[in-house]
Amino acid sequence: MITVRAMQKADVTNVHRIETLSFRTPWSKAALMSELSNRVAHYLVAEYAGKIVGYLGMWVLFDECHITNIAVDPAYRRMGVGKTLLFAGMEVGDYFGASSMTLEVRETNRIAQELYRKFDFEQEGYRKRYYSDTGEGAILLWNVNIPRTVQNNACIRDTFALQWETFEKRGDRV
Ligand SMILES: CC(C)(COP(=O)(O)OP(=O)(O)OC[C@H]1O[C@@H](n2cnc3c(N)ncnc32)[C@H](O)[C@@H]1OP(=O)(O)O)[C@@H](O)C(=O)NCCC(=O)NCCS
Repeated sequence: MITVRAMQKADVTNVHRIETLSFRTPWSKAALMSELSNRVAHYLVAEYAGKIVGYLGMWVLFDECHITNIAVDPAYRRMGVGKTLLFAGMEVGDYFGASSMTLEVRETNRIAQELYRKFDFEQEGYRKRYYSDTGEGAILLWNVNIPRTVQNNACIRDTFALQWETFEKRGDRV
């Protein structure tokens, strides 16, 4: 079974490895590390058989949850880890007071767009040439009702264990 918990300092090397395997312009290890002391940031890691196989980062700002990154180890894709992380991110975001969730996705990233569509994200904008490495535009997506999506996908809850206590400790940060 997949376990989801809050990212810790010791996880950053593994998270950074997945980051570099997944993105053309990856975040540095130092940038990921600094997120651990960012009051509004919440980073989730998914573990399978004791190995970190994916992560999701988000900032909770008032009642909005901004996804900064989500990636799954290429060797573990198409197994439901992305769905698990997004669902868990919504539950954690809801817990910290967010009712909506937003993110930007490259216009050519059809796989991620398909994942977001399944979780009720809708296009609310477009930023031309947003990504300087390729000149691609960014599609801005919003889900304005996290609790409804969580409720409609509640069966996912039975497929993974969310270690709430690792998030409780950080509850003083919002
Ligand atoms: C996007 C990403 C996180 C999905 O992770 P994943 O664990 O493979 O996703 P899941 O197995 O949970 O699949 C979720 C849904 O995404 C879509 N999907 C995933 N892989 C797909 C593929 N190869 N082709 C088409 N759709 C795909 C499907 O709709 C799938 O639902 P389904 O299994 O019911 O058909 C992963 O592909 C990834 O890390 N990509 C690189 C980083 C990235 O692009 N991040 C998003 C930045 S905005």
